[in-house]
Amino acid sequence: MSDDEGSAASFEASRLGRKDHWDGVYDREISNFVETGDIGEIWFGEDSANKMVEWVCRNIDNADARILDVGCGNGHLLLSLAEEDYTDLTGTDYSAQAVELATRITKQRDLEITYVVQNFLDPEDVARVAGERKFDVVLDKGTYDAICLKPKDGDEDGAEVDTGARDMYPVSVVNSLSPDGVFLITSCNWTEDELVARFAPHLTLVGRVKHRSFQFGGVIGQTVSTIAFKKS
Ligand SMILES: C[S@@+](CC[C@H](N)C(=O)[O-])C[C@H]1O[C@@H](n2cnc3c(N)ncnc32)[C@H](O)[C@@H]1O
Repeated sequence: MSDDEGSAASFEASRLGRKDHWDGVYDREISNFVETGDIGEIWFGEDSANKMVEWVCRNIDNADARILDVGCGNGHLLLSLAEEDYTDLTGTDYSAQAVELATRITKQRDLEITYVVQNFLDPEDVARVAGERKFDVVLDKGTYDAICLKPKDGDEDGAEVDTGARDMYPVSVVNSLSPDGVFLITSCNWTEDELVARFAPHLTLVGRVKHRSFQFGGVIGQTVSTIAFKKS
C-alpha cells in the first residue's frame, strides 16, 4: 500500500461527505442571511481565503480569465475575486441551497457571478458546466476534503468511504480545465505531499502557498495546505 493509500484508509466516512448534510447547513445559512445579513461559514478561516485570492491576483493577469470555484458554498472566494475586478466567475455546488445562498449574497452586493448546481463527480455535469471553452482556473477550498469523506452509495450511515469518489475528482478537474488551465486547491485533511501524490498523475505541480506552520514532536507540519497545479 502506498503512503497515500495508507493515509486515506484511515479516514472514515462522515456527514461532511453527504449532500443532505450540506442541504441542511445551507438551509440554515439562508435563514441566517435573511435575518441578520451574515453570509455564513468561511471554511478554514479568512486567512486561507485571502491567500487563495492573493495567489490568483499574483498569477492570473487576465481579468477576463474564466474562473470556476468548485463547491463554492456561500461564494465568498468569488465575491473577493469580483472585488479584484475578475469578470468571468462561475461557482458550482451540488447543494441547490448553497447556490441559492451564494446568488442572494451576490445580488445584495450588486456583483456579477454565475452560479450553477453541479455534482462535480458526475462526468455529464462536469462537461455541461465546462462547455467547449473550459476554465482557465479551477479553485477548490474544502470540497475535495468533503468528497474524500463521502460514504459508499447505499450505505450512507456507514463508516466506509467511497474511494471511487476520491478517484473521480482529479478526472473532473482535468476535464474542467482548458489546455493551459491551473488548479488551486486548499485542504485541511491532506498534507502538501499527499495532495501532490494524489494529483501529480493528472496534473503538474507549479506552486505551493505558505501557511502558518506548527511543530509537534519535532516534526514541522501545517494545518492547511494550498497547492497549485497546471494541466500541461
Ligand atoms: C467544506 S465546504 C467548503 C465550501 C466553500 N468552498 C468554502 O470554502 O467555504 C464543502 C462544499 O463542497 C460541496 N460539495 C461536496 N461534494 C460536492 C460534489 N460532489 N459536487 C459539488 N459540490 C460538492 C458542499 O456542498 C460544500 O458546499
